[in-house]
Amino acid sequence: MEKVRLGIAGPGRIVHRVMKDLRKAEHINIVAAASRSLERAQCAAKEFDIPLAYGSYEEMAASDEVDLVYVAVPHPFHCSLSKLFLSAGKHVIVEKPFAMNAKEASEMIACAKASNRFLMEGMWSRFFPAAQSLKALIESGSLGRIRRITADFAFKADLDYEDRLYNPTLGGGSLLDVGVYPLSLMCFYKGELPEKVQVLFDKAETGVDSLCSFQIQFKDGAVGQGFSALDVTTDQGMKIYGTKGWVEMPDFWHPVGYIVHKPGNEPEVHEFASENEGFHHEFEFAATTIISGQLDQSVISLDDSKLIMRVMDVMREEMNVKYPCEQCNM
Ligand SMILES: NC(=O)c1ccc[n+]([C@@H]2O[C@H](COP(=O)([O-])OP(=O)(O)OC[C@H]3O[C@@H](n4cnc5c(N)ncnc54)[C@H](OP(=O)(O)O)[C@@H]3O)[C@@H](O)[C@H]2O)c1
Repeated sequence: MEKVRLGIAGPGRIVHRVMKDLRKAEHINIVAAASRSLERAQCAAKEFDIPLAYGSYEEMAASDEVDLVYVAVPHPFHCSLSKLFLSAGKHVIVEKPFAMNAKEASEMIACAKASNRFLMEGMWSRFFPAAQSLKALIESGSLGRIRRITADFAFKADLDYEDRLYNPTLGGGSLLDVGVYPLSLMCFYKGELPEKVQVLFDKAETGVDSLCSFQIQFKDGAVGQGFSALDVTTDQGMKIYGTKGWVEMPDFWHPVGYIVHKPGNEPEVHEFASENEGFHHEFEFAATTIISGQLDQSVISLDDSKLIMRVMDVMREEMNVKYPCEQCNM
Protein backbone atom coordinates (compact mmCIF):
# COMPACT_ATOMS: atom_id res chain seq x y z
CA MET A 1 0.00 0.00 0.00
CA GLU A 2 1.35 3.42 -0.97
CA LYS A 3 1.97 5.65 2.05
CA VAL A 4 2.83 9.30 2.52
CA ARG A 5 6.04 9.87 4.50
CA LEU A 6 5.32 12.39 7.27
CA GLY A 7 7.79 14.69 9.01
CA ILE A 8 6.82 16.56 12.17
CA ALA A 9 8.05 20.15 12.58
CA GLY A 10 8.03 21.38 16.21
CA PRO A 11 7.53 18.43 18.57
CA GLY A 12 5.79 20.36 21.37
CA ARG A 13 2.52 20.10 23.26
CA ILE A 14 0.10 19.46 20.41
CA VAL A 15 2.33 16.79 18.87
CA HIS A 16 2.09 14.80 22.09
CA ARG A 17 -1.69 14.75 21.70
CA VAL A 18 -1.64 14.09 17.95
CA MET A 19 0.67 11.10 18.38
CA LYS A 20 -1.91 9.27 20.53
CA ASP A 21 -3.89 8.32 17.41
CA LEU A 22 -1.68 9.19 14.46
CA ARG A 23 -0.62 5.61 13.76
CA LYS A 24 -4.27 4.78 13.04
CA ALA A 25 -3.91 6.80 9.80
CA GLU A 26 -3.32 3.90 7.40
CA HIS A 27 -1.72 5.93 4.61
CA ILE A 28 0.73 7.83 6.84
CA ASN A 29 4.24 6.63 7.61
CA ILE A 30 5.82 8.81 10.32
CA VAL A 31 9.46 9.08 9.29
CA ALA A 32 10.97 12.22 10.84
CA ALA A 33 10.87 14.81 13.61
CA ALA A 34 12.54 18.22 13.31
CA SER A 35 13.26 20.80 15.97
CA ARG A 36 15.46 23.85 16.34
CA SER A 37 17.57 21.61 18.59
CA LEU A 38 18.94 18.20 17.52
CA GLU A 39 18.64 16.99 21.10
CA ARG A 40 14.90 17.79 21.23
CA ALA A 41 14.38 16.20 17.81
CA GLN A 42 16.19 13.05 18.91
CA CYS A 43 14.26 12.97 22.16
CA ALA A 44 10.93 13.16 20.26
CA ALA A 45 12.12 10.55 17.73
CA LYS A 46 12.96 8.19 20.58
CA GLU A 47 9.73 8.85 22.49
CA PHE A 48 7.53 8.25 19.43
CA ASP A 49 9.67 5.62 17.69
CA ILE A 50 10.38 7.80 14.65
CA PRO A 51 13.45 6.84 12.57
CA LEU A 52 14.88 10.25 11.58
CA ALA A 53 15.68 13.33 13.70
CA TYR A 54 16.70 16.71 12.24
CA GLY A 55 18.28 19.50 14.32
CA SER A 56 16.78 22.26 12.16
CA TYR A 57 13.64 22.79 10.11
CA GLU A 58 15.84 23.63 7.09
CA GLU A 59 17.48 20.19 7.27
CA MET A 60 14.11 18.46 7.13
CA ALA A 61 13.07 20.73 4.24
CA ALA A 62 16.16 19.56 2.31
CA SER A 63 15.53 15.86 3.05
CA ASP A 64 14.42 13.45 0.32
CA GLU A 65 12.87 11.17 2.94
CA VAL A 66 9.83 13.33 3.68
CA ASP A 67 6.74 13.97 1.49
CA LEU A 68 4.39 15.77 3.90
CA VAL A 69 5.23 18.05 6.83
CA TYR A 70 3.01 18.72 9.84
CA VAL A 71 3.79 22.30 10.94
CA ALA A 72 3.03 22.32 14.69
CA VAL A 73 4.78 25.47 15.92
CA PRO A 74 3.17 28.61 17.47
CA HIS A 75 1.06 30.61 15.01
CA PRO A 76 3.54 33.44 14.21
CA PHE A 77 5.77 30.83 12.53
CA HIS A 78 3.06 29.04 10.51
CA CYS A 79 3.58 31.23 7.45
CA SER A 80 7.39 31.19 7.29
CA LEU A 81 7.71 27.46 8.00
CA SER A 82 4.90 26.45 5.63
CA LYS A 83 6.59 28.45 2.87
CA LEU A 84 9.96 26.90 3.72
CA PHE A 85 8.59 23.37 3.31
CA LEU A 86 6.35 24.10 0.31
CA SER A 87 9.21 25.78 -1.57
CA ALA A 88 11.34 22.71 -0.88
CA GLY A 89 8.68 20.51 -2.54
CA LYS A 90 6.93 19.16 0.55
CA HIS A 91 3.17 18.97 1.07
CA VAL A 92 2.05 20.72 4.27
CA ILE A 93 -0.60 20.39 6.99
CA VAL A 94 -0.34 23.51 9.15
CA GLU A 95 -1.94 23.75 12.58
CA LYS A 96 -4.82 26.12 13.27
CA PRO A 97 -5.09 29.06 13.01
CA PHE A 98 -3.87 28.86 9.41
CA ALA A 99 -1.77 32.03 9.79
CA MET A 100 -1.66 35.27 11.81
CA ASN A 101 -3.73 37.21 9.27
CA ALA A 102 -5.18 37.09 5.75
CA LYS A 103 -2.06 38.58 4.19
CA GLU A 104 0.08 35.69 5.46
CA ALA A 105 -2.64 33.25 4.37
CA SER A 106 -2.49 34.62 0.81
CA GLU A 107 1.30 34.27 0.75
CA MET A 108 1.10 30.65 1.89
CA ILE A 109 -1.54 29.81 -0.72
CA ALA A 110 0.48 31.50 -3.48
CA CYS A 111 3.53 29.51 -2.41
CA ALA A 112 1.59 26.21 -2.47
CA LYS A 113 0.29 27.00 -5.96
CA ALA A 114 3.74 28.04 -7.25
CA SER A 115 5.27 24.87 -5.78
CA ASN A 116 2.38 22.68 -6.98
CA ARG A 117 2.03 21.18 -3.52
CA PHE A 118 -0.85 20.28 -1.18
CA LEU A 119 -1.49 22.71 1.69
CA MET A 120 -4.22 22.35 4.32
CA GLU A 121 -5.10 23.94 7.66
CA GLY A 122 -5.24 21.31 10.40
CA MET A 123 -8.81 22.19 11.35
CA TRP A 124 -9.22 18.63 12.64
CA SER A 125 -12.74 19.18 14.03
CA ARG A 126 -14.20 19.06 10.50
CA PHE A 127 -12.89 15.53 9.88
CA PHE A 128 -14.51 13.55 12.69
CA PRO A 129 -17.11 10.98 11.54
CA ALA A 130 -19.66 12.77 13.78
CA ALA A 131 -18.89 16.10 12.07
CA GLN A 132 -19.18 14.60 8.59
CA SER A 133 -22.46 12.93 9.58
CA LEU A 134 -23.96 16.16 10.97
CA LYS A 135 -22.85 18.06 7.88
CA ALA A 136 -24.64 15.48 5.69
CA LEU A 137 -27.77 15.70 7.86
CA ILE A 138 -27.87 19.49 7.46
CA GLU A 139 -27.27 19.25 3.71
CA SER A 140 -30.15 16.75 3.43
CA GLY A 141 -32.51 19.53 4.60
CA SER A 142 -33.68 17.48 7.59
CA LEU A 143 -33.33 20.49 9.92
CA GLY A 144 -34.91 22.89 7.43
CA ARG A 145 -33.29 26.28 6.88
CA ILE A 146 -30.54 27.03 9.41
CA ARG A 147 -31.32 30.29 11.23
CA ARG A 148 -29.03 30.34 14.26
CA ILE A 149 -25.84 28.64 15.41
CA THR A 150 -24.18 29.07 18.80
CA ALA A 151 -20.76 27.71 19.68
CA ASP A 152 -18.18 28.41 22.32
CA PHE A 153 -14.70 27.27 23.17
CA ALA A 154 -13.37 28.81 26.36
CA PHE A 155 -11.07 27.37 29.01
CA LYS A 156 -9.23 28.62 32.08
CA ALA A 157 -5.55 28.60 31.16
CA ASP A 158 -2.68 29.09 33.62
CA LEU A 159 -2.04 32.80 34.01
CA ASP A 160 1.49 32.66 32.57
CA TYR A 161 2.31 35.74 30.50
CA GLU A 162 5.36 34.07 28.96
CA ASP A 163 3.37 31.13 27.62
CA ARG A 164 2.15 31.28 24.02
CA LEU A 165 -1.52 31.65 25.10
CA TYR A 166 -1.02 35.11 26.66
CA ASN A 167 2.23 36.18 24.98
CA PRO A 168 1.77 38.58 22.02
CA THR A 169 5.16 37.61 20.58
CA LEU A 170 3.89 34.02 20.29
CA GLY A 171 0.50 35.05 18.85
CA GLY A 172 -1.44 34.87 22.15
CA GLY A 173 -5.13 35.63 22.65
CA SER A 174 -8.33 33.62 22.82
CA LEU A 175 -9.58 34.39 19.32
CA LEU A 176 -6.64 32.97 17.37
CA ASP A 177 -6.15 30.07 19.76
CA VAL A 178 -9.69 28.80 20.34
CA GLY A 179 -12.14 31.36 18.87
CA VAL A 180 -11.15 30.07 15.45
CA TYR A 181 -13.06 26.85 16.25
CA PRO A 182 -16.55 28.34 16.76
CA LEU A 183 -15.98 30.61 13.76
CA SER A 184 -14.67 27.90 11.44
CA LEU A 185 -17.20 25.26 12.50
CA MET A 186 -20.20 27.60 12.25
CA CYS A 187 -19.12 28.35 8.68
CA PHE A 188 -18.59 24.64 7.98
CA TYR A 189 -22.09 23.63 9.06
CA LYS A 190 -23.73 26.65 7.45
CA GLY A 191 -21.75 25.94 4.27
CA GLU A 192 -20.68 29.54 3.70
CA LEU A 193 -18.62 32.40 5.07
CA PRO A 194 -20.32 35.29 6.92
CA GLU A 195 -21.04 38.71 5.46
CA LYS A 196 -21.11 40.68 8.73
CA VAL A 197 -19.28 40.47 12.04
CA GLN A 198 -19.61 42.19 15.44
CA VAL A 199 -17.40 41.69 18.48
CA LEU A 200 -17.26 42.38 22.24
CA PHE A 201 -14.07 41.59 24.16
CA ASP A 202 -11.91 41.91 27.23
CA LYS A 203 -8.12 42.08 27.32
CA ALA A 204 -5.34 40.59 29.43
CA GLU A 205 -2.48 42.71 30.79
CA THR A 206 -0.35 41.61 27.83
CA GLY A 207 -2.77 43.33 25.41
CA VAL A 208 -4.18 40.15 23.85
CA ASP A 209 -7.89 39.28 24.07
CA SER A 210 -8.65 37.18 27.14
CA LEU A 211 -12.33 36.99 26.11
CA CYS A 212 -13.99 37.43 22.75
CA SER A 213 -17.72 37.27 22.09
CA PHE A 214 -18.77 37.64 18.47
CA GLN A 215 -21.77 37.55 16.21
CA ILE A 216 -21.70 36.80 12.52
CA GLN A 217 -24.44 37.05 9.92
CA PHE A 218 -24.74 35.03 6.73
CA LYS A 219 -26.13 36.12 3.36
CA ASP A 220 -29.61 34.68 4.05
CA GLY A 221 -29.88 36.54 7.39
CA ALA A 222 -29.03 33.53 9.62
CA VAL A 223 -26.79 34.38 12.57
CA GLY A 224 -23.94 32.72 14.43
CA GLN A 225 -22.93 33.56 18.00
CA GLY A 226 -19.45 32.51 19.07
CA PHE A 227 -17.40 32.84 22.22
CA SER A 228 -13.79 32.21 23.23
CA ALA A 229 -11.84 32.92 26.41
CA LEU A 230 -8.66 32.00 28.24
CA ASP A 231 -9.87 32.81 31.76
CA VAL A 232 -13.07 30.80 32.15
CA THR A 233 -14.12 27.27 31.22
CA THR A 234 -17.46 26.88 29.42
CA ASP A 235 -19.36 23.83 28.20
CA GLN A 236 -17.69 24.04 24.75
CA GLY A 237 -20.83 22.96 22.94
CA MET A 238 -22.52 23.90 19.69
CA LYS A 239 -26.21 24.23 18.89
CA ILE A 240 -27.65 24.55 15.40
CA TYR A 241 -31.25 25.72 15.02
CA GLY A 242 -33.17 25.08 11.81
CA THR A 243 -36.78 25.70 10.81
CA LYS A 244 -37.63 21.97 11.25
CA GLY A 245 -35.54 21.11 14.32
CA TRP A 246 -32.34 21.71 16.21
CA VAL A 247 -29.15 19.85 17.05
CA GLU A 248 -26.81 19.95 20.00
CA MET A 249 -23.25 18.78 19.60
CA PRO A 250 -21.22 18.57 22.82
CA ASP A 251 -17.45 19.15 22.45
CA PHE A 252 -18.02 20.22 18.86
CA TRP A 253 -14.26 20.74 18.36
CA HIS A 254 -13.65 16.98 18.85
CA PRO A 255 -17.14 15.49 18.59
CA VAL A 256 -18.18 11.88 19.06
CA GLY A 257 -21.89 12.46 18.58
CA TYR A 258 -24.86 14.80 18.44
CA ILE A 259 -28.54 14.88 19.44
CA VAL A 260 -31.34 15.88 17.06
CA HIS A 261 -34.47 17.49 18.50
CA LYS A 262 -37.64 17.71 16.40
CA PRO A 263 -41.05 18.92 17.58
CA GLY A 264 -43.21 16.00 18.75
CA ASN A 265 -40.35 13.46 18.58
CA GLU A 266 -38.07 11.94 21.22
CA PRO A 267 -34.49 13.31 20.99
CA GLU A 268 -32.49 11.24 18.49
CA VAL A 269 -28.98 10.40 19.68
CA HIS A 270 -26.23 9.82 17.08
CA GLU A 271 -23.16 8.24 18.67
CA PHE A 272 -19.79 7.46 17.13
CA ALA A 273 -16.78 5.52 18.41
CA SER A 274 -14.86 7.42 21.08
CA GLU A 275 -11.26 8.31 20.33
CA ASN A 276 -8.10 9.10 22.29
CA GLU A 277 -7.83 12.46 20.51
CA GLY A 278 -8.97 11.77 16.95
CA PHE A 279 -6.33 13.63 14.96
CA HIS A 280 -5.80 10.69 12.59
CA HIS A 281 -8.92 11.54 10.57
CA GLU A 282 -7.43 14.75 9.13
CA PHE A 283 -4.06 13.09 8.45
CA GLU A 284 -5.66 10.12 6.70
CA PHE A 285 -7.76 12.50 4.61
CA ALA A 286 -4.68 14.55 3.64
CA ALA A 287 -2.67 11.42 2.79
CA THR A 288 -5.37 9.89 0.58
CA THR A 289 -5.95 13.23 -1.16
CA ILE A 290 -2.21 13.53 -1.88
CA ILE A 291 -1.98 9.90 -3.08
CA SER A 292 -4.91 10.49 -5.45
CA GLY A 293 -2.91 13.33 -7.01
CA GLN A 294 -5.27 16.12 -5.92
CA LEU A 295 -4.05 19.37 -4.43
CA ASP A 296 -7.47 20.90 -3.67
CA GLN A 297 -10.06 19.62 -1.23
CA SER A 298 -13.33 21.03 0.01
CA VAL A 299 -13.49 20.01 3.69
CA ILE A 300 -11.35 23.00 4.69
CA SER A 301 -10.50 24.68 1.40
CA LEU A 302 -7.69 27.21 1.19
CA ASP A 303 -10.28 29.88 0.41
CA ASP A 304 -12.12 28.99 3.64
CA SER A 305 -8.89 29.25 5.63
CA LYS A 306 -7.99 32.59 4.06
CA LEU A 307 -11.46 34.11 4.46
CA ILE A 308 -11.67 32.95 8.07
CA MET A 309 -8.36 34.74 8.69
CA ARG A 310 -9.89 37.83 7.07
CA VAL A 311 -12.91 37.69 9.41
CA MET A 312 -10.53 37.39 12.38
CA ASP A 313 -8.52 40.37 11.02
CA VAL A 314 -11.75 42.42 11.18
CA MET A 315 -12.43 41.25 14.74
CA ARG A 316 -8.87 42.04 15.83
CA GLU A 317 -9.10 45.48 14.25
CA GLU A 318 -12.20 46.08 16.38
CA MET A 319 -10.38 44.79 19.50
CA ASN A 320 -7.16 46.64 18.58
CA VAL A 321 -5.17 43.44 19.14
CA LYS A 322 -1.87 43.77 17.26
CA TYR A 323 1.09 41.43 17.25
CA PRO A 324 4.79 42.37 17.14
CA CYS A 325 5.35 39.98 14.21
CA GLU A 326 2.82 41.94 12.10
CA GLN A 327 4.21 45.40 12.59
CA CYS A 328 6.03 45.46 9.30
CA ASN A 329 3.96 42.93 7.35
CA MET A 330 0.28 43.91 7.72
N1 LIG B 1 -5.49 21.23 16.91
C1 LIG B 1 -5.48 21.43 18.23
O1 LIG B 1 -6.30 20.93 18.98
C2 LIG B 1 -4.39 22.25 18.81
C3 LIG B 1 -4.16 22.21 20.18
C4 LIG B 1 -3.11 22.94 20.69
C5 LIG B 1 -2.33 23.72 19.84
N2 LIG B 1 -2.61 23.76 18.51
C6 LIG B 1 -1.82 24.60 17.60
O2 LIG B 1 -0.54 24.04 17.48
C7 LIG B 1 0.45 25.05 17.40
C8 LIG B 1 1.52 24.74 18.43
O3 LIG B 1 0.95 24.77 19.72
P1 LIG B 1 1.70 24.07 20.97
O4 LIG B 1 0.87 24.33 22.14
O5 LIG B 1 2.07 22.68 20.61
O6 LIG B 1 2.99 25.01 21.02
P2 LIG B 1 4.33 24.83 21.83
O7 LIG B 1 4.36 23.53 22.55
O8 LIG B 1 4.53 26.08 22.62
O9 LIG B 1 5.40 24.86 20.66
C9 LIG B 1 5.49 23.80 19.73
C10 LIG B 1 6.89 23.71 19.17
O10 LIG B 1 7.13 24.83 18.35
C11 LIG B 1 8.52 25.10 18.33
N3 LIG B 1 8.71 26.52 18.55
C12 LIG B 1 8.46 27.22 19.66
N4 LIG B 1 8.81 28.51 19.48
C13 LIG B 1 9.30 28.60 18.24
C14 LIG B 1 9.84 29.64 17.48
N5 LIG B 1 10.04 30.85 18.05
N6 LIG B 1 10.23 29.40 16.22
C15 LIG B 1 10.09 28.17 15.70
N7 LIG B 1 9.61 27.12 16.39
C16 LIG B 1 9.21 27.34 17.64
C17 LIG B 1 9.15 24.35 19.48
O11 LIG B 1 9.92 23.30 18.94
P3 LIG B 1 11.51 23.38 18.97
O12 LIG B 1 11.92 24.44 19.96
O13 LIG B 1 11.86 22.01 19.40
O14 LIG B 1 11.93 23.72 17.59
C18 LIG B 1 7.97 23.81 20.24
O15 LIG B 1 8.19 22.55 20.81
C19 LIG B 1 -0.27 26.38 17.64
O16 LIG B 1 -0.43 27.08 16.43
C20 LIG B 1 -1.63 25.98 18.19
O17 LIG B 1 -2.69 26.84 17.77
C21 LIG B 1 -3.60 23.02 17.99
